[in-house]
Amino acid sequence: MDEQDLIDAALAVRRNAYARYSNYRVGAALLDERGKMFAGCNVENAAYPEGTCAEANAIAAMIADGGKTIQTIVIAGGHDDIEDCTPCGGCRQKINEFATPETRVVLLRPGGHTRSFPIDALLPRSFHL
Ligand code: THU
Repeated sequence: MDEQDLIDAALAVRRNAYARYSNYRVGAALLDERGKMFAGCNVENAAYPEGTCAEANAIAAMIADGGKTIQTIVIAGGHDDIEDCTPCGGCRQKINEFATPETRVVLLRPGGHTRSFPIDALLPRSFHL
């Protein structure tokens, strides 16, 4: 399982995104500490705040399966083609909850390029309870 597998999975699950209100489709695929992969897409709702983000759904699948931390999470989003989609603030906090200093957040960019960040770079001085 390498980064390309995660990219392929994020693109595949993105095709199932339920984004009838925004038409902005997001797929996320992550690898947990056991090397298991989980994927999620955004699922919107007629009551707008009830929609869920792709990252949140991938994380929920990991937690339900007993995973503890994220090794790598790939995020791919855009209206039609892939755009420069960076995770929303809430998803940064959700990723942070299950991240380690080694966790990499990989963002897919137009043309198949990627950018990779530690969560600290995306959410500096984050809240911890
Ligand atoms: N969205 C995600 O799934 N992840 C993000 O990090 C950013 C936004 C979704 C939510 C909504 O369904 C659509 O993209 C437009 O905001």
